Amino acid sequence: MMKFFVTILATSIAAIHPQQAMTSTPPKHVSLELEQESSERPLQIKGMIPSWLSGTLVRNGPVTVTVDGKANAHWFDGLAMLHAFTFENANVVYANRFLRTDAYKTVFEEGSLNYSGFASDPCRSLFQRFFTWLFSSSEPALHNANVNIAKIADQYVALTEVPLPVRFDRQTLDTLGVLNYQDELPKDKCWESAHPHYDNAHKETINYLIKYGRTSFYTLYRIQDETSERKIIAEIPVDRPSYMHSFALTENYVVFTEFPFRVNPIDMILSKQAFIKNFKWMPDEGTRFIVVERATGKVAGEYTTSSFFAFHHAAAFEQKDELIIDVVCYDDAAVITGVADHFKEESGVDVDPENALTPSRLMRYTLSMKTNELSSELILKKPIEFPRINDAFDSKPYRYMYLTDPRDYATAEDIRPLYKIDMQTKQVLSWAEKGCYPGELVFVPKPDSQDEDDGVVMTIVLDHLNNGSFLLILDGKTFQEVARAVAPYAIPAGLHAQFFD
Ligand SMILES: [Fe+2]
Repeated sequence: MMKFFVTILATSIAAIHPQQAMTSTPPKHVSLELEQESSERPLQIKGMIPSWLSGTLVRNGPVTVTVDGKANAHWFDGLAMLHAFTFENANVVYANRFLRTDAYKTVFEEGSLNYSGFASDPCRSLFQRFFTWLFSSSEPALHNANVNIAKIADQYVALTEVPLPVRFDRQTLDTLGVLNYQDELPKDKCWESAHPHYDNAHKETINYLIKYGRTSFYTLYRIQDETSERKIIAEIPVDRPSYMHSFALTENYVVFTEFPFRVNPIDMILSKQAFIKNFKWMPDEGTRFIVVERATGKVAGEYTTSSFFAFHHAAAFEQKDELIIDVVCYDDAAVITGVADHFKEESGVDVDPENALTPSRLMRYTLSMKTNELSSELILKKPIEFPRINDAFDSKPYRYMYLTDPRDYATAEDIRPLYKIDMQTKQVLSWAEKGCYPGELVFVPKPDSQDEDDGVVMTIVLDHLNNGSFLLILDGKTFQEVARAVAPYAIPAGLHAQFFD
């Protein structure tokens, strides 16, 4: 297939956005899982794309780099690439661009993998970078933000788990620089979640960062629309911070789910180990829910249950005097440590290198604000990840959830289903096709829809049997295929996606 390269007018653009001047052709000894970049490329459609579907799906994810035959230690270490599918009048056009980050520069200009971020999973790669920052006095960098996408302070940004977010042009996917928060909170040398919530009622983004020190803090903040100032909601002191990839939001509360996967910041500084290696799995401590009142920043309750680990909170809401929290859980933190052989003895986590993902399950935790009691219910026990709902129901009572089987592709016979679960009836619908490896589903509501699931869900599917990829669009209610749009080349498996109308 003929490679398509975006033409860059280096001299004119460089004056505005220096990042754009970087070359889009790597040295000959460098190869990439996907090298091509496209712009506004019409796609062949099978089926009928709903005429009401208007807007852009943007997905983030890493592209594996190989230098002199040596690849990234793990695919999550790859370079951030954005993929955009733009819908208008029942048609769809595709674009993809690498983020022009410092890591991109290292690969494309220096032909080197020598950028911080070696890891066996996304979180570890982040930690490696963070570790470097912790002892560095350098200015905040343009980081390899390959985890998530968001619109913050009216800017489209790519996120990883450290500040600052990387801004991009939604139409061209060009990198525009960092989102430079206008506040006094840390802009580097701290951890920041890549899973902010947007509160449509209050027109604000809610997120948190972790400041490490002799006493560390979970710093919960809000960014109101039309500002880029992080205003503190709460600062919760903690001796040994937990790794919490995401958090739960209800109308009146934020809930931190504090897994017993903790770090002593002093050990971290003294050990000279990569950041993640300092975290220890401490199952005897249990997992603790910390409930923070959004209006006051006060801790309104704490609940401890048996140990589990999770990346993603699926949803949360209030029901009378109770908080309902749905989470995709794992038995332990092996999923975050991946195939790091040396990690087992340091952390006590038993990692099976052939199956880094321990069995996952969807759990519903109910926290009584009245009695301070906690109960739990197993909803679904399958290999599942990337839980998504209709975003309009974030922090509110909801009924439908969409999930993906995240296991690695192994053989052409593999089935990696997508799921829709009705949380009231527990009915599960699925979609699967042999040899197809789908990513995270994103729900897009039909305009003026009355029902929560009236719309479509879509995801990028890696089609191993046909050595390509397609965007799959399913009916939100029936979970039946509505249409697929065939991509010009295979799109590597990725992480999170968002739809912007
Ligand atoms: Fe995530």
